[in-house]
Amino acid sequence: MADTTPRIPSRQWRGVLTEYADRLGITEATPVVTLGEGGTPLIPAPALSARTGAKVYVKFEGMNPTGSFKDRGMTMAISKAVEHGAKAVICASTGNTSASAAAYATHAGITAAVLVPEGKIAMGKLSQAIAHNAQLIQVQGNFDDCLDLARDLAENYPVHLVNSVNPDRIAGQKTAAYEVVEVLQDAPDFHLLPVGNAGNYTAYSRGYTEELERGVTTKLPRMFGFQAEGSAPIVLGHPVAHPETVASAIRIGNPASWELALAAREATDGYFGAISDDDILAAHRILSAEVGVFVEPASAIGVAGLLQRSEAGVIPAGATVVITVTGHGLKDPQWALRSEDGSEVKPTVVPVDSAEIAGVLGLVRATS
Ligand code: F0G
Repeated sequence: MADTTPRIPSRQWRGVLTEYADRLGITEATPVVTLGEGGTPLIPAPALSARTGAKVYVKFEGMNPTGSFKDRGMTMAISKAVEHGAKAVICASTGNTSASAAAYATHAGITAAVLVPEGKIAMGKLSQAIAHNAQLIQVQGNFDDCLDLARDLAENYPVHLVNSVNPDRIAGQKTAAYEVVEVLQDAPDFHLLPVGNAGNYTAYSRGYTEELERGVTTKLPRMFGFQAEGSAPIVLGHPVAHPETVASAIRIGNPASWELALAAREATDGYFGAISDDDILAAHRILSAEVGVFVEPASAIGVAGLLQRSEAGVIPAGATVVITVTGHGLKDPQWALRSEDGSEVKPTVVPVDSAEIAGVLGLVRATS
């Protein structure tokens, strides 16, 4: 039969498994399942630099194919699952992992079962999982319950677990650190990001450590991870039975990569901090209205963390800071329609009349 596989022009970004094949141990034996993930922009954020005196960049992971950083790990996890003959994968999720697993599994022609906490994931993510044909199951419990169930099912039934307890996920996700180093030509002084299961915190630390060992960077960044106040087990030092926060992506009370994250904090002179929901939403507004980057609430927590740590005097003037903003705002857009005082934003309605619009906009007619 004729080979009908479309070929990719060489100058298009080919996804992290092909771009970093040698560093991820990808060989001919691995059927690469990709949607073109990775290669996301590192965007200078002058508005954040002006507020802090640091050189601030945001790594916009919402630009991945399903709108979050999860795609970097999922291309690896699904490719390896297929290599090992898996016909079905399973994961627990606060939303983004389920969207990503669903998309990559369906692309590979295998099935994905996803367990999500009932009523607790954003509409965009729920829609993605369903659109991509996942078997979506809402569990009457929280994320931590879902992860326990997914682990149990993967152990006792023929389904392959693709949560970040699967080391292939972390391996794929560490490529984001390679990309930062490629652009900056060194590691930043600080790297800030949200923490849920702490898989991504672990992945970046690993990526940066490899870069230092390869001799392409001069240092490790200090890794600063942030949890929402109502679900901050690592900050508190104990699991949280009933985690709560507006940042539904990181509503996690018992992080899977807790121990690895503590080791990474130790190795990088890092830090874990807690941020209030109000400060998360304020940072969300700053990112949207001053930087021009639209994210979901959880993804804004690194920016809130920057402002908090800067105020505490921890971020010196001129320091290079990278903040990973993990997921796209279109997944959970309702927050943009809430003003600071909590009231709903209502766009002005006008008749079909340019003079009326000019009045609303405060425009004065040009004199010729
Ligand atoms: N940001 C977003 C947008 C997320 O979806 C997640 C995790 C995190 C940050 C935290 O990353 O768990 O590696 O510390 N979301 C998972 C999910 C739990 O199911 O989509 P982490």
